[in-house]
Amino acid sequence: MKPVVVGISGASGSILARQTVDALLEREVPTVVVCSNDAKLVWQEEMDEPFGHYLSAWREDPNFTDYGIHEMSAPIASGTHPTAGMVIVPCSMTSVASLANGIANNLLLRAADVCLKERRNLVMVPRETPLHAIHLENLTRLARMGVVIMPPEPPFYLRPQGIDDVVSFFVGRILVALGLEDTLPEKYRYQGRTDRGTPH
Ligand SMILES: Cc1cc2nc3c(=O)[nH]c(=O)nc-3n(C[C@H](O)[C@H](O)[C@H](O)COP(=O)(O)O)c2cc1C
Repeated sequence: MKPVVVGISGASGSILARQTVDALLEREVPTVVVCSNDAKLVWQEEMDEPFGHYLSAWREDPNFTDYGIHEMSAPIASGTHPTAGMVIVPCSMTSVASLANGIANNLLLRAADVCLKERRNLVMVPRETPLHAIHLENLTRLARMGVVIMPPEPPFYLRPQGIDDVVSFFVGRILVALGLEDTLPEKYRYQGRTDRGTPH
């Protein structure tokens, strides 16, 4: 099985990265992680344990590999190294801007640029609000190249019970976007309503 690359950049939403890596390893998917320095800072703000704590636990798993952000000689920096694609979760506007302009001066960006040039699956979870015109133009450029752009929006229509529900739902969406699952778990699929009427 070809590995999935997980890029973790310095936007809010570290819990999404954590749960995505956990979900891939639970499915025994070979998983390669590269994390930016600013992502580690955000992680410190948002999570109970520092990034290194989770990294040590993941390294116990034979399907897990990680590289430093400046390790440009890692296999994922080359298009000759086969991968099943990449997800950048969460994705900062800095990383969006770099990728939209062909800048690949760290390993996370280079691995994503490889996905673009090799026409491999690239899923991006951009997190910023509000968005200005340059953010939107950069995202549009990437969407036109086939990148799946998935802002981490809560499924309000499913009436989530809390943050854990929102995160699980969203990680399910990522797995589907990566082609690793056919559908979301049943509880996260909208079933429609049978009592439809005109709201007053
Ligand atoms: C606590 C914290 C939260 C941040 N949240 C965001 C965010 O949600 N979106 C964003 O684009 N940048 C955010 N930033 C800023 C990025 O970390 C910064 O622009 C950085 O250069 C991103 O670089 P990277 O893409 O190489 O990680 C945040 C920074 C900190 C310290």
